[in-house]
Formats: sequence, structure tokens, C-alpha cells
Amino acid sequence: MIEVCNITKRYGHLTAIDRVTFRVEKGEVLAFLGPNGAGKTTTMRILTSFIPATEGTAQIAGFDCAEQPDEVKKRIGYLPETPPVYQELTVAEYLGFVGKLRGLSGASLTQALDRVTERLSLGTVRQRLIANLSRGYRQRVGLAQALIHDPPVLILDEPTVGLDPKQIIEIRELIKSLAGSHSVILSTHILPEATAVCQRVVIINGGRIVAEDTPDQLSARLRKSEKISITLKAPPANVAERLREVPGVEHVLATSDPKTVLIECALGRDIREDVARFAVGQNWGLLEMKPVSMTLEDVFLKLTQREEELPKSNDTTVGEQQ
Ligand SMILES: Nc1ncnc2c1ncn2[C@@H]1O[C@H](COP(=O)(O)OP(=O)(O)OP(=O)(O)O)[C@@H](O)[C@H]1O
Ligand SMILES: [Mg+2]
Repeated sequence: MIEVCNITKRYGHLTAIDRVTFRVEKGEVLAFLGPNGAGKTTTMRILTSFIPATEGTAQIAGFDCAEQPDEVKKRIGYLPETPPVYQELTVAEYLGFVGKLRGLSGASLTQALDRVTERLSLGTVRQRLIANLSRGYRQRVGLAQALIHDPPVLILDEPTVGLDPKQIIEIRELIKSLAGSHSVILSTHILPEATAVCQRVVIINGGRIVAEDTPDQLSARLRKSEKISITLKAPPANVAERLREVPGVEHVLATSDPKTVLIECALGRDIREDVARFAVGQNWGLLEMKPVSMTLEDVFLKLTQREEELPKSNDTTVGEQQ
């Protein structure tokens, strides 16, 4: 439904995105995850025919985003970073206006307005001026305008930004309800958002795609070994050395708690039973044993590490000059 092939966008010397390739199938929700300045908005603006790519092609439902912008725009709903809502209109006037722009009129326009008003819980603010709405409600109006013509493709640039926790859950539920019937790309730099609503995550950093997979597979792929943490009531001084006697144990790492150690073994191997039997046999008082898994947050930090380190080294230079 969405096909992006090797798109690059340059602004003068700056390469905002560099040979980005991915696709989104019908009914799929894809998260575009990346830190500030990664190139998320740039990619979305190309997909919505707002700006052309310098190189490469992007297609929506088989239509080229640069060559056939009218066909593309008909099939997408777009929630930009800053929703383009007219302050001096009421919610109902604005949504009616957008609906007409989308070619709706008469009964079909009324129906569409009722549908989005209900879906985004906008009933109570229908007659309010957009200028007087809270940020969260404005964001919902932005989503309502993206959905008014019930497009098959939705491109949502940070859809939950500025919302309170209750509204975040509501919007996530809404996005989940679109899965199956719509193709959705949403950009975010919030990890739980990617895991909560998406089947697939594309991680972008410095304009390049650094990983693409399901949330679970992403963390599994980056894991090099299995780790378990055990807490003992009375560990001996040489606990690390002793634990290495257990078949399969590769490394034993200390933690900040002297009673807790991390045991590493090869990926796919389960040594919990052997470790437990050994600890109990030694009378160490096994208080707790749990697998330590790598969260998507760990994966994200690892993949975007280089960029995270840059500001730190710059800061040091500035500090030294002063
Ligand atoms: N019109 C423009 N002219 C020059 N540079 C631009 C322009 N638009 C974006 N850029 C640059 O392109 C890079 C990618 O920006 P983009 O807005 O796509 O990032 P983003 O992932 O959406 O970030 P954020 O999370 O902050 O919204 C940035 O370095 C940005 O400064
Ligand atoms: Mg952006």
C-alpha cells in the first residue's frame, strides 16, 4: 500500500534522509521511530506529496507521490506535526470545510462529520472556537480532519504529542482500531508508543534506517546472550567462580547489590534449572531468579548511540573554551 524505495532528500549540503526504503502492507500499522532530527517528518512530507524527494521513489496505492499528487492526496489522511487548524473557526465549521475540500457534500458530509465527531469524542466541543481549545482537543481535531474522508492510508506525525495519559490511551486505541482496514504510519520518539500500537517498527537515525522488525524480534536480534539474575541470601566470596562450574554458564557479572549476580549463557539455552539446583545444593539460600530481557528502549539506545554521544562531546568542547 505504501512503498518507499531508496529516497534521499537533501537540503543544500544537509542530507535529511539517505536512501530510505520500506513498505507498509494493507492493514498494517508501522512505527517510524527515531530521535529528533532523524528524518521522520521529512519522509512523511514526501509520502504526502508536500515535497519531492531528491532521489528515489515513493508510492501510495500504486500512485507516485511526486508525479501523481492528486491521486495520492485522495487516498491519504495526514496529521502533520503542527495540525493546520484554523483558529477562528468552530470545530464543526472547520471539519465541514475540510470535508468539502475532500469532495464530500450533503448527507455523506453529515455522516462523515458525525462519524469523526464520535470517534474522536468531539461532541462536547463541536461549537467551540478552535483557538479556545486545549492542546489535546486540537490534536484530536487534527486527527478528525485526517479521517474525515475515511482514507485507506493514514500518515500521522507524532499523533499523541501533547496529550494527557488518558487521551494517549484513547488515541492509541483509535489507531489500533484502524489496523486491519487501514495502512498507518505513525512517527514517534516514544518507545512504548511503538510497541503499544504497531506490528512493525522502523528505526531511523541520522536520516538512515538502522533497523526494521517487529518489536519483539528487534530486541531478540540485538541480544547476544541470555542473562539471568539471581539473588542469594548467603553468597560465598567466590560465588562467580563457583557458578562457572555449572554447565552452560559463560560469564558471571557482579551487580551493585553484592547478593545479586548476573549469569550469562549462550542465546537459546536455558540454564535456570541447573543454576537453581546448584545454588540450593550449596545452601546459598536462593531468594530470587529471573531472566533479564533487553527492552526496546535498550535496543533503541544502542542503535542510536552514536548520535546520543555527539552532543556530549560538543558540550565538553564548549566548556573547555569558556
Ligand atoms: N526545510 C528544511 N530546510 C533545511 N533543513 C531541513 C528542512 N526540513 C528539515 N530539515 C533538516 O532535516 C533533518 C531531518 O528533519 P526532520 O524534521 O525530518 O526530523 P524529525 O525526525 O521529524 O525530527 P523531530 O523528532 O524533531 O520532529 C534535520 O536535520 C532538519 O534540520
Ligand atoms: Mg518531526
